[in-house]
Amino acid sequence: MARIGIFDSGVGGLTVQRAILAALPGADTLYLGDTARVPYGTKSPETVTQYSLRNARFLRALGIDLLVVACNTASAVALPALREALDLPVVGVVEPGARAAVRASAGGPIGVIGTPGTIASGAYQAAIRVARPGADVRARAASLLVPLAEEGWTDPADELVRGVVRRYLAPLRGEGIDALVLGCTHYPLLAGAIAAELPGVPLVDSAASVAAEVGARFPGDAVGDGRHRFFVTDAPERFLAVAGRFLGRPVEAAEHVDV
Ligand code: DGL
Repeated sequence: MARIGIFDSGVGGLTVQRAILAALPGADTLYLGDTARVPYGTKSPETVTQYSLRNARFLRALGIDLLVVACNTASAVALPALREALDLPVVGVVEPGARAAVRASAGGPIGVIGTPGTIASGAYQAAIRVARPGADVRARAASLLVPLAEEGWTDPADELVRGVVRRYLAPLRGEGIDALVLGCTHYPLLAGAIAAELPGVPLVDSAASVAAEVGARFPGDAVGDGRHRFFVTDAPERFLAVAGRFLGRPVEAAEHVDV
């Protein structure tokens, strides 16, 4: 039986949970969205690490077999502290995403977009260079794509959406990148608009690679009863209003907790 704990700063990690459920449909999951403290992407590494440790301890106390850090910013800055503090396997999104990017790239420069915290940490840049020594990585922060995705403004035909995406991606156009890492939980919702700005460039969503890694740890079909509980640290109704779009299936209830 696999009971998987998943946390994110808010709703974004549901894109990772979605991929995990596609790989392990029977898994039991406990999802925590730290909606009282979102966003993590503009906070210091120390603060994000402190929040991440609290989230992890909350889920650990409920009894989980594995923790997925379904937030790029938290994965980028807090993974070593989480691995040291917990006596269970911890999977982050950065390393699987970096490996997938190297697989998708034909050897040219690799682009990465993420929150300011993720990009400033250098975690993707370092992980890509572990997978391919000497890799040329072009990393850019794209903060406004987070609220855009939460607002549901993701239609590639919408000029406003295209304009915001174009502005962030302009520096990457013409740099010859041959793969782009969507290094933030929210960006897969904007994949259509991003692809339209960078035609022919493969987009790498780390969620699928994370799901493959999680699936490999629980071989076999009978991994659980497919039960899912959702916890948030603030305003469950706001979480529920957008959660279905990120998870790709309805989320009926979320419990308000204090971590
Ligand atoms: N979940 C965050 C990430 O993937 C984005 C939202 C935030 O800044 O908290 O980096």
